[in-house]
Amino acid sequence: MKKLLLWAALFGSLTASAQKWEGLADTPPMGWNSWNKFACDIDENLIREVADAMVASGLADAGYLYINLDDCWHASERDADGFPQCDTTRFPSGMKALTDYVHSLGLKIGIYSDAGRQTCGGRFGSYGHEYQDALQYARWGFDYLKYDWCFTEHIDPKGAYALMRDALRAAGRPILFSMCEWGTAKPWEWAEQTAHLWRTTGDIGLSFSEQLVHDSWEQNSVLRCLDLNAPLRKYAGPGHWNDPDMLEVGNGLTENQDRAHFTLWCMMASPLILGNDIRAMSPRTAAIVMNREVIAIDQDPLGVQGLRYATDEGVEYWFKPLEGGDWAVCLFNRTQEPRTCTIDWLQYCFTDEEVSQRATAFDRICYDGRDLWNGGKSFRTDKPRTVVVPAEDVVLYRLTPSAKQPRRR
Ligand code: GLA
Repeated sequence: MKKLLLWAALFGSLTASAQKWEGLADTPPMGWNSWNKFACDIDENLIREVADAMVASGLADAGYLYINLDDCWHASERDADGFPQCDTTRFPSGMKALTDYVHSLGLKIGIYSDAGRQTCGGRFGSYGHEYQDALQYARWGFDYLKYDWCFTEHIDPKGAYALMRDALRAAGRPILFSMCEWGTAKPWEWAEQTAHLWRTTGDIGLSFSEQLVHDSWEQNSVLRCLDLNAPLRKYAGPGHWNDPDMLEVGNGLTENQDRAHFTLWCMMASPLILGNDIRAMSPRTAAIVMNREVIAIDQDPLGVQGLRYATDEGVEYWFKPLEGGDWAVCLFNRTQEPRTCTIDWLQYCFTDEEVSQRATAFDRICYDGRDLWNGGKSFRTDKPRTVVVPAEDVVLYRLTPSAKQPRRR
């Protein structure tokens, strides 16, 4: 009997699920990543300049925190003991100096690897070296790991990602864990205890509505990422987010498309990871990515991913419950022509039964509205509102229960 108990205790402790680092992503992470704009063309000067620009531009004050290296920071091989090392031509001062510099600005810094034998860019992957890699990232001073899924034939995703989670935990430094498995094995169904975010889509490309088809692969349009991510809202919440991929804002879409892309990511409580060259950001781009009231929709502490409640003639009506009884309401015009919409609030009385259990209750509650892309212009919901939504653009409101409720008969 004693033996049996001993075995049970031992088995229990071996199988007890290890934990990811808690408290690192109570709201969706915000930052910048090198891939969308620079792909493999990265070096320490770029990263330092981007970190400087993060502070100088006001992005850091607006909440953007992480400076994330993506693929191709690697040396051609590991060191003699199997530890990862960086490309010393591109990073001559070494990773520790770089993380120290970024930290000295009050920012955090991320690194990239892959669960397979190689990264997607053909550098060494972490397969078979997970504990060494996690230890090295911790020693180097990284705060965030994006973990990709190339070259993973015959590897089980649940096991592979849990292994790196455990390795990060064992390495002793809190490191936010971002899964980049593209949604292939439906990580939203099993990764809540594994990672802080998981990609729900393949790679985004610089296109709003058309897929970008290459020889053997495709890049998703912004709308494809949106459509793949939208139905997964019940799986997201504080500490574990759906990730429809990094932002393409400022990389060449039209102003309307940029505004719509950013707003919809905020409505979906998505990570806000910029992918543009923030050293040379136009005032137009800066005004989009630093609209604090819009960022506050993304960062709302309730952490509920917004709901695409209705679609009418190409205009989508999105609702996101916010802290304190507020709602964000977004009208998104997918079409290529402006649309005039009359919002009869009473048509949108519903309860979000799937996630928050919150009711809009427009029949009982009058809200004060603010038009967040229009200087906070105010209105009330006691009468219908007519608005023009430009082509491929959004109108975004924040509704707050009014102190002055109309008297009901
Ligand atoms: C994959 C990822 C991208 C990027 C590249 C780097 O395609 O999905 O986000 O990290 O690899 O090679």
